[in-house]
Amino acid sequence: MKGIVFTEFLELVEDKFGLEMVDNIITSSTLESGGIYTAVGTYSFSEMLQLLTHLSENTGISIDNLLLVYAEHFFSVIENSYPGLLATYNDPIEMISSIENHIHVEVRKIYPDAELPTFEVVEKTENSLVLIYTSSRAMHHFGLGLMNKTFAHFNATATIDLQKIKEDGTEVRFVINKN
Ligand code: HEM
Repeated sequence: MKGIVFTEFLELVEDKFGLEMVDNIITSSTLESGGIYTAVGTYSFSEMLQLLTHLSENTGISIDNLLLVYAEHFFSVIENSYPGLLATYNDPIEMISSIENHIHVEVRKIYPDAELPTFEVVEKTENSLVLIYTSSRAMHHFGLGLMNKTFAHFNATATIDLQKIKEDGTEVRFVINKN
């Protein structure tokens, strides 16, 4: 997992819960990195999972909800860091249906070692989209948060239904209907 995901996460944790919480979740985890991340580095996903788990235990907020809120913050990082990629699109359905064959393809050019999910387009109309998310990291709520903000970016809203195909969340169906 790329360092930018860690640096932005810890910044958000500091913002919302304070530096003491950052220190707490780092020291209660077993981290190969020692909890020191650089934006361009690459770190084990298990480090993120430990940080999330300890934050969840300390705050009583579920990992899914933490990932949802984090993704909504991460979208603004994307807006600031990759404005050109977003400017390619003028419609949220077009953008979300292009993650697999364009957006994450570009991401992989920037970070060849990025660990990305797959988003298979199953059905697409002007105002609706059905996608299958697959990833061993089960970060579907991170995807949900990014989708929410994608609609907001285009001054639109949507009803997004998340259906787990596999209980462990490694395969999930997203049914998206633009309002
Ligand atoms: C992961 C970039 C749009 C869904 C990531 C990562 C980056 C990235 C850098 C982390 C990879 C790693 O840590 O190794 C971008 C950029 C985007 C974009 C630059 C837009 C310009 C989206 C959108 C979605 C999405 C719109 C929404 C469906 C995800 C998910 C992950 C991810 C769910 C987590 C990894 C996983 O589930 O396995 N993306 N992304 N991305 N992205 Fe994107």
